[in-house]
Amino acid sequence: MAKISVAENPQELFRRVADYWRQIAQAALRDHGKFHVALAGGSTPRGLYQLLASDEYAKKFDWQHTNFYFGDERAVPLDHEQSNFHMAHEAMLDSLAIPATNVFPLITDLDHLENSARHYEKILQRELPLGLQKIPMFDLILLGMGDDGHTASLFPGSSILKEQSQLVATVFVEKLQSWRLSFTYPLINHASHVALLVTGQSKAEKIKQVLVDKTGSNPIEAIQPQGELTWFLDADAASLLPDDLHF
Ligand code: 6PG
Repeated sequence: MAKISVAENPQELFRRVADYWRQIAQAALRDHGKFHVALAGGSTPRGLYQLLASDEYAKKFDWQHTNFYFGDERAVPLDHEQSNFHMAHEAMLDSLAIPATNVFPLITDLDHLENSARHYEKILQRELPLGLQKIPMFDLILLGMGDDGHTASLFPGSSILKEQSQLVATVFVEKLQSWRLSFTYPLINHASHVALLVTGQSKAEKIKQVLVDKTGSNPIEAIQPQGELTWFLDADAASLLPDDLHF
């Protein structure tokens, strides 16, 4: 059963996620000496990354034993303003001086996207603890949600939604007319913890559809990890939910 946390505003939401991240990271370090986290792209998590890199928070984390991965990536150069890696680098990684060996960008050379997906799977199998069927198990995967109910690059109607063996796959997103790389359901649903970060009034209708109506038509509804699933919403995104649905 998913947990739903509703914060008054995005800043409070980021603080809740940062504290949640810290709890999971401490347990992971005790358990297997590393914390493996996959970052979400888009614009919502930027504020979280900036908070984690802030003077108030940065010293609370063991960055030397934290490995950063990316749940999806646009097929653009890593220094492109549309790159999820670029966003995370600017907002957090650069100022935290994370060793380059702890950061695993998805390589997005358009001519070799399929190879990049295969290569990334090998990295995950090398770096992460392996669960059932030797599927890498993330300690934490952060995800956002589009107002069409997509998450990572699992867009409505896209072929990747049917992918049940590859862990990382290429996908051509019709509505954006662009290629992407993305984690697939088998990988995401093997995670120990998945945190969904959604803010803003523009997402309220979709949040109601997913959490109340449960239409089943939204890709994000198939995010059902073997571990813990937590929705982190701000009041605007949760404005159409009944009060008894969240804490
Ligand atoms: C991406 C993300 C994508 C994002 C949602 C929400 O690469 O764009 O992986 O799934 O999380 O589109 O984006 P916003 O946070 O910008 O609303």
